[in-house]
Amino acid sequence: MNLLRPITTPRAVLRLVDVADAWKLLRYREQNREHLAPWEPLRDEAYYTLDHCVQTLAESREAARLDRAYPFFAMDLSGQEILASFTFANVVRGAFQACHLGYSIALRRQGQGLMQEILETALAWAFRDLDMHRVMANYMPRNDRSGKLLERLGFEREGYAKRYLQIAGVWEDHILTSRVRDD
Ligand SMILES: CC(C)(COP(=O)(O)OP(=O)(O)OC[C@H]1O[C@@H](n2cnc3c(N)ncnc32)[C@H](O)[C@@H]1OP(=O)(O)O)[C@@H](O)C(=O)NCCC(=O)NCCS
Repeated sequence: MNLLRPITTPRAVLRLVDVADAWKLLRYREQNREHLAPWEPLRDEAYYTLDHCVQTLAESREAARLDRAYPFFAMDLSGQEILASFTFANVVRGAFQACHLGYSIALRRQGQGLMQEILETALAWAFRDLDMHRVMANYMPRNDRSGKLLERLGFEREGYAKRYLQIAGVWEDHILTSRVRDD
């Protein structure tokens, strides 16, 4: 599997994160702080520092090396700006061949069909290059944008988990969905 070769879509370049992205990640976190806060765990002030970004990126690369998680950025075509972030996390091999997908897009890129474009390409990569059989994605019932995106991407509802994840400090129910490889 060649993790270092970027994948290009009409509007973005998808590639594994790198420690050299720390400044770009800090900008993404700062610029999207209010946009992402309702959908993510509570963040302390340290989260918005360069050191924290360096640490996150170093841990991300190590997780990919260990085949545990594959954290990606979708960059603009010039490679200067993070448009979106997504991760194939909690990779389990053996009889399961499955992982969880998490994602976010910058506020000013939302509502343009860009996340769908990015994830359609990324999912094809995960099923082919990562040899995933099932990709799971879960969302809060009030996260309409996420629910609609997953439906368009071919994810199917499989369940409802009460108090599933602690988001913005509250244990929130989630709708559980999956997309399973066709063949
Ligand atoms: C969830 C999230 C990624 C969805 O992003 P998004 O931009 O709405 O997703 P899409 O790329 O599918 O875009 C769909 C929108 O673009 C519009 N659009 C414009 N041009 C389009 C095109 N060429 N193709 C498809 N859709 C297009 C669609 O009409 C739709 O807008 P609408 O919902 O207002 O009708 C985003 O809201 C986000 O980052 N939220 C915060 C983090 C989060 O919730 N993460 C997920 C936790 S489970």
